[in-house]
Amino acid sequence: MCGIVGYTGSQEAAPILLEGLKKLEYRGYDSAGIAVINDSRISVSKVTGRIANLCEKTSDGKNCPGTAGIGHTRWATHGAPTDTNAHPHMSNDGKFAVVHNGIIENYIALREELTEKGYRFESQTDTEVIVHLIEMYYSGNLKNAVIKASSRLRGSYALGVVCTDEPEKLYAAREASPLILGVGIGENYFASDVTALVPYTRNVIYLDDGEFAEITPDSITVFDPAGRPVNKKISRITWDVQAAEKGGYEHFMLKEIIEQPGAIKATIAPRIKDGKIVLDETGLTAEYLKSINKIVITACGSAYYAGCAGKYAIEKLCRIPVQVELASELRYSDPIIDEHTLVIVLSQSGETADTIAAMKECKKRGAKTLAIVNVVGSTIANIADHTIYTWAGPEIAVATTKGYTTQVSVLYLFALYAAEKMNRIDEELYKRLLESLNTLPKKIQEALDMNPQIPNLAKKYHNASSLFFIGRNTDYAVALEGALKMKEISYIHAESYAAGELKHGTIALIEEHQPVIALCCNESIMEKTMSNIIEVKARGAEVLAVTFKDNQKIVSLADDMIYVPKTETIFAAAAEIVPLQLLAYYVAKENGCDIDKPKNLAKSVTVE
Ligand code: M6R
Repeated sequence: MCGIVGYTGSQEAAPILLEGLKKLEYRGYDSAGIAVINDSRISVSKVTGRIANLCEKTSDGKNCPGTAGIGHTRWATHGAPTDTNAHPHMSNDGKFAVVHNGIIENYIALREELTEKGYRFESQTDTEVIVHLIEMYYSGNLKNAVIKASSRLRGSYALGVVCTDEPEKLYAAREASPLILGVGIGENYFASDVTALVPYTRNVIYLDDGEFAEITPDSITVFDPAGRPVNKKISRITWDVQAAEKGGYEHFMLKEIIEQPGAIKATIAPRIKDGKIVLDETGLTAEYLKSINKIVITACGSAYYAGCAGKYAIEKLCRIPVQVELASELRYSDPIIDEHTLVIVLSQSGETADTIAAMKECKKRGAKTLAIVNVVGSTIANIADHTIYTWAGPEIAVATTKGYTTQVSVLYLFALYAAEKMNRIDEELYKRLLESLNTLPKKIQEALDMNPQIPNLAKKYHNASSLFFIGRNTDYAVALEGALKMKEISYIHAESYAAGELKHGTIALIEEHQPVIALCCNESIMEKTMSNIIEVKARGAEVLAVTFKDNQKIVSLADDMIYVPKTETIFAAAAEIVPLQLLAYYVAKENGCDIDKPKNLAKSVTVE
């Protein structure tokens, strides 16, 4: 959600800024702009719509000469997506330009104050107050002006600032919005995430909240909010450039679906040693695990649904109550959480604003937090008491796929690990389930291979105005994610229902030819779901069933089939979701949708 980039060095800045912005496109945006310093002047170019328009407007950056500059992709919050509201924003005296990711919560009061003092506003954005504050506080020292301006801001920001008096210098500041500095040789960078940096450098510095940096071609100095220098470690990015490229696939989403066996192997394999799950990185000892009486899982969107799937495994194996809560609800719910609650926080990006807020709320109440996160060095990973990384590699498509399945896999690992530490599982079952976890990558590969009919099913179902996903227990958890995948990329209305709830209202909606996707991979409850299939068929529904290949009973009931390999039921979600991801993908493709960048959505929701 919004992205910022900055460059200072000896090369032309604009092409580098444009390339960086292209890499951030996946985060979601509706306008874009760059500002480059040249001859003591700042030249700004902004467009509504895609980066391609900005490239055209600037002749791929050739019309904006200069070796230092900043760029921005904007996802409109305050003010419509127009050229005027696009960033960078300029000060009235033309000396400063600012790009900003985040939300300034007290911008109305600041705008009134600045207007009274005679500052003229061009846009409707909250961001514009920042550049006028900097102008107001500037008396020849940009660092001091940035400190003073930042101290007036409430809310979240990742900022980039340039000033004509210090034409080679960039300032970058962060508060609750992601910002990473790229360390080069004779050139330096900043960006909202590493995908924009990896083509140029693998050496990065993660800024912490409240910190800001002074960046020149030859140096990066980081300061705390009071302006005192802070020693920062340089981290090395291990992702290769290809990991963030399409690699011959038509869409990132398809590539990421196909990458799932490898991603899950990379996530699980290093944590299984000599027939035991090793999660030393969590620091979750047997003594601590035995002291808790409840687990709360909190997250947003698909990560929340991953939590719903993981709940079954944790409760079944650890016999401890697990509550799964939407982070946007939990944060305002005055939750009953204390030092005997373990809070598991799931997030691919590690930057989701609601998830961060919910996590802070739980910490305040004394709970320990375990983060399951994909992006190394992200805010959630930094705040958590314990972190387990999902080694999925960069996920670029807005719709998560390998992010979700690796989260689910880590929850399975955790369930088995905790059950053993809490003495809630016998050796034989532990061994059998561990073996089953080891085979997950293979099962996911099978799930990919055994459904060549999905593109044809997509041709049949893509015209539907609405799709129902039904299932019970673990199947219901998968139905939730299957429906979200479908609606977010194909724009078809899709809802999931616990199959047993149909009679309590939803069945009123079933009429002739209504497609119902019935998930039947939980053998303990399959007969019940079969009854639900019979009920909807009796009212004219077309049933697309998701089950095992040898499940003749379901095959004879359904109109169409999707197959899933057999796994231990409590670990079923990881493979079961895979064909539903493919179905959503091919339906969206049939409908000509912008699959990797669905309308109105952002990859990382860094504002509330
Ligand atoms: O980065 P996070 O895992 O915290 O993101 C949470 C949700 O925003 C995310 O899963 C969203 O629902 C996806 N677009 C779903 O595909």
